[in-house]
Amino acid sequence: MIVGVPREIKTAEHRVALVPAGAHSLVGDGHTVLVEPGAGVGSGFSDDSYRAAGATLATAAEEVWAKAEMILKVKEPTEPEWPRMRRGQVVFTYFHFAASEALTKAVIKAKIVAIAYETVQLLSGELPLLTPMSEVAGRMAVQEGAKYLEKVYGGSGVLLGGVPGVLPAEVLIIGGGVVGANAAKMAAGLGAHVTLLDLSLDRLRYLADVLPANVDVLYSNRHNLLEQLRKADVVIGAVLLPGAKAPKLVRRDDLNLMKPGSVIVDVAVDQGGIIETSRPTTHEHPTYLVDGIIHYAVANMPGGVPRTSTLALTNATFPYAKRLARSGWQRACKEDPALFLGLNVIEGQVVYPAVAETFGLPSADPQTLV
Ligand SMILES: NC(=O)c1ccc[n+]([C@@H]2O[C@H](COP(=O)([O-])OP(=O)(O)OC[C@H]3O[C@@H](n4cnc5c(N)ncnc54)[C@H](O)[C@@H]3O)[C@@H](O)[C@H]2O)c1
Repeated sequence: MIVGVPREIKTAEHRVALVPAGAHSLVGDGHTVLVEPGAGVGSGFSDDSYRAAGATLATAAEEVWAKAEMILKVKEPTEPEWPRMRRGQVVFTYFHFAASEALTKAVIKAKIVAIAYETVQLLSGELPLLTPMSEVAGRMAVQEGAKYLEKVYGGSGVLLGGVPGVLPAEVLIIGGGVVGANAAKMAAGLGAHVTLLDLSLDRLRYLADVLPANVDVLYSNRHNLLEQLRKADVVIGAVLLPGAKAPKLVRRDDLNLMKPGSVIVDVAVDQGGIIETSRPTTHEHPTYLVDGIIHYAVANMPGGVPRTSTLALTNATFPYAKRLARSGWQRACKEDPALFLGLNVIEGQVVYPAVAETFGLPSADPQTLV
């Protein structure tokens, strides 16, 4: 099979969907890997490193899209890429269709086979191609919180870990899923005192078992939240309600309880945020101030560390890509129920019910199409 890897052209996107190690493996399986020049540069992978792995460098993006039977990407195809999509071509990437009717219609019209990273789902309910990005965001949230506590950034001037004789910072994490657990691990490792709130008692029990002694886990309710907000130097928003907007757990008036110069990192901002005063920001302008509290609300945090994010993402996506290349999409999806759930649009027919419902489109049964 010819597997194509175009350079990501969405603004500020530096990740790439296949690293040289993946190209090496696919070429070893007998496939041709066609890479757009510069595709890996943002993540620290030169064209030469792909060449050395056995990949073929294309002349330009058009050649990749024109020749590849399967396209591996990171972000959804952007408008300039829509005319390049070809009937029957498999495109394996994050699509987030519900966020864009125009993209959904373009994909239907192009009659590609759209397999979305975000809906690949294990029997346990885990979304294995979203997990690595939550791990990155959770860990990064602590770095950012610590940075913006520094005086030069307008913070209160508190060092996260304190020093002997001086108490460490208080980090409050709201939501103890993948983001929250990773944030807790990092903050605790830096010596902060961490309080983590979650609604699931099972999850709290698990986290209490595996996290270090400087992390306290607490049941999430309004009373406990307000009590913790008064003490917090850094607040990390990490709640997810699957398929819904994030609940506004911290209201504007609640900011008055917080110490001036404290930092809120609302990781959940990509789902609307759990802080009433959150609005999405960018890596170029990551923070703003409300009532003396620094808000960091970058909607694509992993984009800030593309080298790590690319490796983390491709570690998770590559085994699926390899199977798609080896068996073809129909057999690969039939054999793997997790990958089957990644099917969103098949040659013009929407097969993922939530996408169809969002835009009032008819939904076909994917079983009949594979
Ligand atoms: N900004 C970014 O770049 C970025 C990157 C990755 C993930 N995210 C977002 O981070 C958020 C968290 O993702 P995740 O992977 O950790 O999700 P997850 O499903 O693993 O965890 C969510 C947790 O929230 C808990 N929860 C639900 N309601 C709660 C409440 N009222 N109080 C406290 N806890 C509550 C759940 O019990 C669960 O443990 C999501 O919105 C996700 O989209 C953002």
